[in-house]
Amino acid sequence: MHPSYRNLISTLDFSLDEQNRLLALARRIMESPAEYGQRMGGQIMASLFFEPSTRTRLSFESAMLRLGGQVIGFSEAASSSAAKGESLSDTIRMASRYADLLVIRHPKEGAALVASQASEVPVINAGDGGREHPTQTLTDLVTIQSIKGKIEGLTVGCCGDLKYGRTVHSLVKNLSRMGVSFVFISPKELRIPGTLRAFLDEGNQRYIETHDMEEAMGHLDVLYMTRVQRERFDSEQDYIRLKDMYILDGNKLKNAKPDLCVLHPLPRVNEITPEVDDDPRAAYFEQARCGVFARMALLLMLSGVEPGLLPAERQSALPTTKAILCKNPRCITSVEPTLAHACRLHNAETRTNRCAYCEGDVQGVEV
Ligand code: NCD
Repeated sequence: MHPSYRNLISTLDFSLDEQNRLLALARRIMESPAEYGQRMGGQIMASLFFEPSTRTRLSFESAMLRLGGQVIGFSEAASSSAAKGESLSDTIRMASRYADLLVIRHPKEGAALVASQASEVPVINAGDGGREHPTQTLTDLVTIQSIKGKIEGLTVGCCGDLKYGRTVHSLVKNLSRMGVSFVFISPKELRIPGTLRAFLDEGNQRYIETHDMEEAMGHLDVLYMTRVQRERFDSEQDYIRLKDMYILDGNKLKNAKPDLCVLHPLPRVNEITPEVDDDPRAAYFEQARCGVFARMALLLMLSGVEPGLLPAERQSALPTTKAILCKNPRCITSVEPTLAHACRLHNAETRTNRCAYCEGDVQGVEV
């Protein structure tokens, strides 16, 4: 039977109306948390973390416990049957028989989509490799709305590792439907990925790319700092060369607007000096707090306890083009042996297809 529940795999899975209802619910929870204390009594959330996490896992677990629900799960692949060679699909098939909702983080791009195909209950993507992190975006939106009072019309700077930083990928896609302008600050090696640039260009989104943080600073309403994602680099030398390109300190903030909002999904390494923590513009710890409310709202809506999401549309099966294989080593197809490759034709002229899992370009033509 076709499931009527929804998943959150990509940041654009919820329409703007649905997302607005979720953000409004998060605000109501923030104002009167006690009202929601028992709403998910009797339900179980499984938190399946195949990759390290502090905030995302703990804030999800805290959110479920604050709603009166219970939590099972694991926090590293080594303590799951993945270590014995079990496929992701089988692990998920099992977990979805033990829990009412699944939260998954995995190092491979497209892993959450695979999980949603194997699961019998809603799946939430808590980060799939360098691709997406949609619940961090909900956290970011709750924070920006609560601090700035609005989102439309803001100039948002994203600084650091825009290539591998999944938080930026989800945030930028999502904000691109909300009337903001972007300033992307990065070294040329860590610019936003080509697929994201194409997405912005197709939507006529306003953005500029620069490597000059100081020059950009005075124009920004929001500055989203990011960690250089060491674990996603192919070469340690490259990481070392690029890791300290941007360090936000008190001196750089002198040129910023007095009501700038400085965000960071955390963890930080050294891209924001501790002295900035005392600046009233630093909002990243408040952002981490908002993550609990955003996730409480998400759990309530995906479980159907709170209304606001339309029933799932009947999804046609992913297009499978056996002749075109995704060769991206970061894609879940590279490690999931039984997974059929699935590509969509993206550009007939250049014969470019896009992998349905990692969304990477795949050259080739179907035979
Ligand atoms: C981010 C992530 O895991 O992508 N952290 C988080 O979820 N708050 C950012 C990062 O690890 O740099």
